[in-house]
Amino acid sequence: MAHTETPLIEIRRINRIYNSETAPVNALNGISFAIYEQTFVSIVGKSGSGKSTLLNLIGGMDKPTSGEIIVGGKVISKMTSAELARYRRTDVGMIFQSFNLIANMTALDNVALPLFFAGASEKARLARAAELLEMVGLSHRATHRPTELSGGEQQRVAIARALVANPRFILADEPTGNLDSRTTEEIVAMLQRLREQGKTIVMITHDLSLAELLSTRIITLKDGNIISDEQHEPQFQSAK
Ligand SMILES: Nc1ncnc2c1ncn2[C@@H]1O[C@H](COP(=O)(O)OP(=O)(O)O)[C@@H](O)[C@H]1O
Ligand SMILES: [Mg+2]
Repeated sequence: MAHTETPLIEIRRINRIYNSETAPVNALNGISFAIYEQTFVSIVGKSGSGKSTLLNLIGGMDKPTSGEIIVGGKVISKMTSAELARYRRTDVGMIFQSFNLIANMTALDNVALPLFFAGASEKARLARAAELLEMVGLSHRATHRPTELSGGEQQRVAIARALVANPRFILADEPTGNLDSRTTEEIVAMLQRLREQGKTIVMITHDLSLAELLSTRIITLKDGNIISDEQHEPQFQSAK
């Protein structure tokens, strides 16, 4: 497919070498690719292929040993840690396998939290968080704490939190890894809806069948290299 627009995310010849006690590990070997807006890109590969390393780099949690990562025109691979913290807050909406909600905060306050760091007023934070909770169908759970929610509900709260500050893209790390099959279906439907709304989503997973349900493109890593990169027709059929 030919693209005329500028990519949202550009990965240019990145290497990530871990200096371990024994021998250095080349976790990523000079890989390059670009991600365009309004696409759902899955990065798949077996354990040890470099997925978490790549996730950490795109999410601004780590820096490449060499090469560049450019997001929305900003070279994030050259940022200071303060700049990276800001990038993570404003540009990235993270969804984790283990939800990562704050245990002693209500669902509503968890969703509102990114807006606190963005400097929004309390009134604006709560109104916006309530809107997002409604979008994920959890208005009736607003005052519940994470331990009072099912796994699927916790992940829906986490999705609302990821979206609340209008990030440039969603970065999802095995988002259904801790869920049973029925709940997985719920989260898959929600991710599919986000794609249809035009959100840009990058998902890291070892689960090729999950990638096939949702992705418009699937990139496969092996031993730190891209071994395939293909456009894809998402296979998820909503139950309507
Ligand atoms: N902190 C680290 N120190 C040394 N080696 C690491 C470290 N993190 C990951 N690795 C190695 O880098 C390679 C890629 O790991 P990773 O990105 O975690 O793969 P995946 O997420 O696909 O399982 C593996 O060989 C792994 O053992
Ligand atoms: Mg991993």
